[in-house]
Formats: sequence, structure tokens, C-alpha cells
Amino acid sequence: MAYNDLRMDNQWLPFTPNRSFQKDPRIFVAADGMHFTTHDGRQVIDGISSLWCVGAGHNRKPINEAIKKQLDTLDYSTAFSVSNDKAFRAAEMIAAMAPGDLNKVLFCNSGSEAADTAMKVALAHHRARGEGHRNLFIGRERGYHGVGFGGMSVGGIPANRKVYGAALLPRVDHLRFIHDPVKHAYVHNIEPVWDEDLLLELESRILPLHDPSNVAAVIVEPVAGSAGWYVPPQGYLKRLREICDKHGILLIFDEVITGFGRLGTAFASDYYGVQPDMLTFAKAVTNGVFPLGGVVCSDRIYGAMMGAHGSAPDHAIEFFHGYTYSGHPVACAAAIATLDLFREENLFARAGEMGPVLGDAMHAALKGLPNVIGIRSLGLAAAVELAPLPGLPGKRAFDVFMDCFHRGVLVRNAGDNLVFAPPYIVERAQIETMVGTLADAIKRA
Ligand SMILES: Cc1ncc(COP(=O)(O)O)c(C=O)c1O
Repeated sequence: MAYNDLRMDNQWLPFTPNRSFQKDPRIFVAADGMHFTTHDGRQVIDGISSLWCVGAGHNRKPINEAIKKQLDTLDYSTAFSVSNDKAFRAAEMIAAMAPGDLNKVLFCNSGSEAADTAMKVALAHHRARGEGHRNLFIGRERGYHGVGFGGMSVGGIPANRKVYGAALLPRVDHLRFIHDPVKHAYVHNIEPVWDEDLLLELESRILPLHDPSNVAAVIVEPVAGSAGWYVPPQGYLKRLREICDKHGILLIFDEVITGFGRLGTAFASDYYGVQPDMLTFAKAVTNGVFPLGGVVCSDRIYGAMMGAHGSAPDHAIEFFHGYTYSGHPVACAAAIATLDLFREENLFARAGEMGPVLGDAMHAALKGLPNVIGIRSLGLAAAVELAPLPGLPGKRAFDVFMDCFHRGVLVRNAGDNLVFAPPYIVERAQIETMVGTLADAIKRA
């Protein structure tokens, strides 16, 4: 098949401008280390870890071998009322890495399912404790928690919500966004210090409006990833924790992007020293190689759910939720091999070391270029924000993304941001190539 002749008769691509893709298809046929090979034989640097997944780089043999071995041993078994050895081991490893008493892992298959699962745990937990009236969720403007109806409702990216109207959950409110484009346009590996208390509105407006006793949970990404890598103000997450504690509200961190090393620590919770009641994960847990997601819940939540059923008969199910593929043995084998590899190669520390290299390069090369209105770096990720073209939001960044792709660099366009989040194995020279290519494309745009 000549790939350039590809028609879109049978393919509807996700989160993609399909009509434009058809005119200029971008198709990968192989990957190794930091690079993809395209259908026309070109090499493209994976500057985004294939959307925050491939921390250890592509085509890692220990992960591939673990998957092959698992397929030949136990290919699949149902997850309901029976389980498999790999799910137990993967849960044990994840719980050991998760902070504090986050010890109970509920597996699912994606970040979207993880968000919806965490929201359902929150409701079920409150009900089990006799507080079923706690059924309101608070997300944040420009948050992203996937595409399920729960995650979409607490999410705050307008385009993702716009056409779903009344189908969004009704009992949801949103915190204001964590960005000040005037005072904190440039964030360079530090936590911005705001003179204003961003969470004052939670205490003084949102909670009084709904009454705190009705709020089930607050869900936030510690660092806002999908919107374009926006860093919270200093002390923000700690204060959020305190407010939630004060009012008996559960705090959920969506660590689908920040989990497993992106900030140089296992989780953003460790980086910020704040423990949520639940933490969602996906993506890098299997190096992106096999779909797996999950929610790590505190012992307290699990204890309350089990305790509420203390007098129920043995056959009674405590939580009516789960997926056919929850704890899939092949996915869990991939996770075990990935987490072993992260540890053996000390890759979280490497992400921590290479983060400032990326941040320095982005600020040095891009600040002052035409239409650049902000640069934010933290951990091994950095974003540059461009002034939108009048009436055409996102177009300038899309053009830059396309230009970079054709010059061998995969960068992520998010609104008018361009984001790099390379695999933790990235080399300095590759960072220079990525950032240099981006700088040239911004100048051309
Ligand atoms: C913070 C966050 N939560 C949830 C999701 C949804 O994950 P998935 O696409 O695996 O459903 C994403 C995906 O990018 C994400 O960044």
C-alpha cells in the first residue's frame, strides 16, 4: 500500500484534524530508543514520549520479553471473583512506590477510566460512611481527566466540554485556573510565587455556595499537563490539602502525566510533599506499551468501604465497579517489567537531571522570539506559549507542530502551546536538536 494514497475510508482518528491529516498523513511504522521511523523512511525524535508514556524510550527489550513470556504463560483470565499473579505483583510494586498509606490499587485500562473510577470510589466511600449527600465534585478550569462523562465533567478544557451540554454531570464546580499570563508568563524550573491566594475563592465562594458538607472530592492534576504544562503556585497543593481536610472532602490527584518519574520523583505527590486520598495513574506505568491505568486509594478509604460491609454476608460485593480487563495479566507483566527497568536504570533521577537541561534550552532559545508570550518548565517537560492568530486559536501552534514534524521532531501542540516531554533517556544533543528545530519553526511561523 502506498501510504501517501491513504484514504480515510475506515479510519477516524482521535483528537486529530482528520481532513488535514488525509492531505498529509503522518504514519509511523517502527520505533527504537528516542526515534520513530515513518512510512517514508524518515527518523522523527519522540519529543513527547508519545504523549507522556514512553519514559524508558521505545522498544525496550525487558518489557517486550516480559509481555511475550506472559502471553505464553497466562494470556488472559477474567478479573471478577478470580485474579492473576501478575496483577498482585504489579499492585504491590505500585503501592510500594505510592506515598503514605496509598496502598490499595484498583486497576483499569486508561487515564479516563481511572478518573471515573476515582470519582465513583469517592461517592461510594461517602455513602458507606453515611454521608451520601456528599455528591458534588470540584475540578479546575483547563483540567483534563480524560473523556469519560465523569472526567469530562470535572475537566475544564472548553473544547472538550462544549458540545456535550446537559450530558455533563450536573453536580460539578471548578476552581479557577493556575496561570497568570502577566506576572508568571515565564516559569523556569521553579514554583511561581503569587501575591494573591488562588484558593481563597474555594474557601470564600465555592464551598459556601454548595456547602462543604455536600462536596465529595476535589480532583486536580498537580501540574496541568494537557492544557500545556502549567505549574501551580508555591504552596497551592498543600493549602488545597488543608482545605479538603478541614471540610472532610477527598482530594484526588490525577497523576496520569506526572506519575512514574516526570518530575524526577515517582509521583508529583512526592515532589510537592502532599499526599492525596486517591491518585490516578496510566501511561508510563507500562512505558505506554500496553494499556493499563488505575487508582491508588488510601487504606482509610478501603477500610471504610470494607467496614461498611462488616456485617454483610461473605458473598456480598463491596464496590460494584470494574472492567473486563482490570488487572489484565499481560498489562501487569508489562508494568512489572517497566517499573523494574525504571529502578534498574535509575530513570526517575535521570528525568530529574535532564529536566533543567530542557528548561534551560527552552528559555535560552525561545524567549524573545516572535509571538512567544510565555515559557514554562518543570521536571522533564517544558512548554512555550504563542500568541494566537486573531480569530484562529491553535492555528499557529498547529503550523509549528507540522513544520517540526516534517523536520524530524515530534512536539505536542496544545491550544497555542507547544510542549516537549521527552523520554527520560533523552541526551543533551537530542534536546538541542528538538529545541533548535522548534525555534526555527516558530521563526518561520
Ligand atoms: C491528566 C490526565 N488524565 C487523564 C487522561 C486520560 O487518559 P487516557 O487517554 O488514557 O484515557 C490524560 C491523558 O492525556 C491526562 O493527561
